[in-house]
Amino acid sequence: MRNPTSSSSLSSFVASSKSQKAERAPVPVVPLSEFGREMQAGLARSPRSISPKFFYDAAGSQLFDRICELPEYYPTRTELRILGECAGEIAEQVGPNAEIVEFGAGSLTKVRLLLDALETPKRYLPIDISGEHLEAAAERLKADYPALVVQPIAADYTMPLVLPAPMAGSGRRVGFFPGSTIGNFEPDEALAFLQLAARMLRGGGLLIGVDLVKAPERLHAAYNDAQGVTAEFNLNLLRRANTELDADFDLDGFAHAAFYNAPRQRIEMHLVSRKAQSVSLNGERFGFEEGETIHTEYSHKFTVDGLRALAVRAGFRPGAVWTDPERLFSVHWLAA
Ligand code: TRP
Repeated sequence: MRNPTSSSSLSSFVASSKSQKAERAPVPVVPLSEFGREMQAGLARSPRSISPKFFYDAAGSQLFDRICELPEYYPTRTELRILGECAGEIAEQVGPNAEIVEFGAGSLTKVRLLLDALETPKRYLPIDISGEHLEAAAERLKADYPALVVQPIAADYTMPLVLPAPMAGSGRRVGFFPGSTIGNFEPDEALAFLQLAARMLRGGGLLIGVDLVKAPERLHAAYNDAQGVTAEFNLNLLRRANTELDADFDLDGFAHAAFYNAPRQRIEMHLVSRKAQSVSLNGERFGFEEGETIHTEYSHKFTVDGLRALAVRAGFRPGAVWTDPERLFSVHWLAA
């Protein structure tokens, strides 16, 4: 989600491999994974940050599923309630024989409510960055919906991607983007994603779930659960770097910090260094002061009108909006 280029870390890597040349045979240069490149670049910049898309390895995906069931975490159950109660009206907007494209599909639980309500949905194309988690979930879904064509796509949906051509006899192509994931982007990225989606879904529409602005204490509790699952989820990023990138983060040396930034209408999540320490990643050392943070995620909150205005800028025509009685969460139909 952020620009992964960092010429400074690249040149220092080249320089250090050069200086070893005299003593040893050249080590073959293994290209870093995308996670590796972004982690290195994220630690090299100031303030430090890493894209939340890297939370979702197998362990991270499982922790995330646990977050969705926490008593403090109201968004998932509120969105499910809205989808269930308004399913008839939503199905009417979508129409028969639809092709559903889900962005960041995760465990494929929410789409079941939609599929159950729709008139003969034709095909389901879930896109998710966590390939293994997606395959397993797609197999379970296929078993439960034998008439539906299920084609999982393991990809980063923030990059332009070419979807398979519509099937013969299919109705509208409809995007499904639940979970208020739109809030995890920076504002300019959110606009860019919606523009991409509007082009991809032209003639159809986007069904999007968006968390609403509300009392700060309610928001704070949702990202600081008593059981510490959100903290574990946040820290899992460092665990993942240790296993995949040959890093040596001390997991007890960092703390989860999440707070509501009211003027910016967003939760900010960080990993805070509990002490002065240094961490090595892929042969490079990074010093941390006590209290220094790595920013890991934003979760922007919206007003109904704010989201609709953003959708218009991206090229959608906003339609119906469904909310719960407490107005905690909203689901929008945006015609493309
Ligand atoms: N997009 C949701 C939100 O911002 C879910 C989510 C993504 C989340 N990353 C998270 C929830 C990290 C808790 C912690 O709320």
